Amino acid sequence: MDDNRVLRRRVGDAEARRANRRWWDTDADDYQAEHGHFLGEVDFVWCPEGLHEADARLLGDLAGRRILELGCGAAAARWLATQGARPVALDLSAGMLRHAAQSADRSGVRVPLVQADALALPFADAAFDTVCTAFGAIPFVADSAAVMREAARVLRPGGRWVFSVTHPIRWVILLVLTYDAVKRSRKLGGLHGRRVGRVSHRYKIHA
Ligand SMILES: C[S@@+](CC[C@H](N)C(=O)[O-])C[C@H]1O[C@@H](n2cnc3c(N)ncnc32)[C@H](O)[C@@H]1O
Repeated sequence: MDDNRVLRRRVGDAEARRANRRWWDTDADDYQAEHGHFLGEVDFVWCPEGLHEADARLLGDLAGRRILELGCGAAAARWLATQGARPVALDLSAGMLRHAAQSADRSGVRVPLVQADALALPFADAAFDTVCTAFGAIPFVADSAAVMREAARVLRPGGRWVFSVTHPIRWVILLVLTYDAVKRSRKLGGLHGRRVGRVSHRYKIHA
């Protein structure tokens, strides 16, 4: 049997959620090792170009605001807390949330962490003043409009929804495959020390 065949078939929500969670649980340590320094321990960075919320102020006033961060990874919400907001950080992956908890231990800045799917938020309607995400959740679901609907549902009327995203991001998948292939072949002694792929942003690959 050829293990390298590419199949195209429909998957249901439950299967997609399992696969998505498994991917991020597996990748969590590598992701943080690769991007943790860039993201900072208590900071909010919107995108690979290095746009910081401290400069951009896309979220508006923060003091006292109930803010939900979707697909938080290691949780930029800690920075929001230092600005007087009342944030909640949510992610599908326990592996990513483990990094959020470790960062909280190191920095001493704690925010509530919730493991849930952005497609089915465990919050009441109008529970937040602001919902935000930096590259979280939206690129990794088939139906990005469903994330928009959930964000709208939990926002109070007039609330603000701010996100940075590329959708879909097939090119990352391609690069990840390349990266995995390089790692595998290195273990086998091939391609040793050769630079195979490099892109100049947060998903950069040092192969
Ligand atoms: C590219 S990382 C971004 C993490 C973080 N916001 C950052 O700036 O580094 C994408 C995050 O989205 C999370 N995620 C993916 N699908 C999700 C979903 N359906 N619901 C909630 N989180 C999800 C992943 O577990 C991962 O932590």
